[in-house]
Amino acid sequence: MSEGSIFQLRVEAVSKTYGDHHVNAVKDVSLNFQSGEFAALMGPSGCGKSTLLNLMGGIDRPTSGRVWLDDKDLSALSDEEVTKIRGNRIGFIFQFFNLLSTLTVIENVALPLELAGRDGRECQKQAIEMLALVGMEKRVKFYPSQLSGGEMQRTAIARALIHRPTLILADEPTGNLDSENGKAVLELLQSVNREFKPTIVMATHSQEAASYADRIIEVRDGIVFGDKQKCSLN
Ligand SMILES: Nc1ncnc2c1ncn2[C@@H]1O[C@H](COP(=O)(O)OP(=O)(O)O)[C@@H](O)[C@H]1O
Ligand SMILES: [Mg+2]
Repeated sequence: MSEGSIFQLRVEAVSKTYGDHHVNAVKDVSLNFQSGEFAALMGPSGCGKSTLLNLMGGIDRPTSGRVWLDDKDLSALSDEEVTKIRGNRIGFIFQFFNLLSTLTVIENVALPLELAGRDGRECQKQAIEMLALVGMEKRVKFYPSQLSGGEMQRTAIARALIHRPTLILADEPTGNLDSENGKAVLELLQSVNREFKPTIVMATHSQEAASYADRIIEVRDGIVFGDKQKCSLN
């Protein structure tokens, strides 16, 4: 089943029911993603986008169904194994950036490599490289509180990229930005996708944000009811 699939990420008949109130956040969703795709999960607040992303990234486990990343069934692995896969292959970007306020920009970006036990100098070098890529090279010694929202998100993108993930999961990455900074972040994600070819799955309630993706998956009330590939213009 897992061997030789052309898909990098497969969500197979996945459902997620939360707690005592039996909220069916995701209902029997199946989706396949090819390596290098830029896809948007689009739908209104509460439709299950974050739940789906968390299932895809192994942050959460499905009530039923399976999630495959390459040859690994995330739903069948131990927490420890999933954490390891996340550390090697997946980068997360969040609406509220989730930077550590007591660390500088460069320390935030280097942190995933340092946690993976990499040499300190190497971590710094790579962090500077990533910060240059996102246009933050002049802010390396700043603290998050000294940055604009757009700068915080660009820092968070550098952090998500530093271990060269093959999958990037972005949850409302422009949800807390004004339209100008939002546009810059979306253009950055698009260029990262084109240049480094990670698969990107981005959750958004905004049609405008979704239009930057090459595929738009519409989610309503826990189900997928539309899945359209944009015609390539180049
Ligand atoms: N931890 C949780 N416990 C209970 N219900 C939850 C939890 N997380 C999400 N939900 C519910 O699941 C549904 C989908 O939520 P979510 O995936 O966050 O939607 P979206 O990201 O599209 O706004 C909502 O009804 C929400 O209230
Ligand atoms: Mg959400």
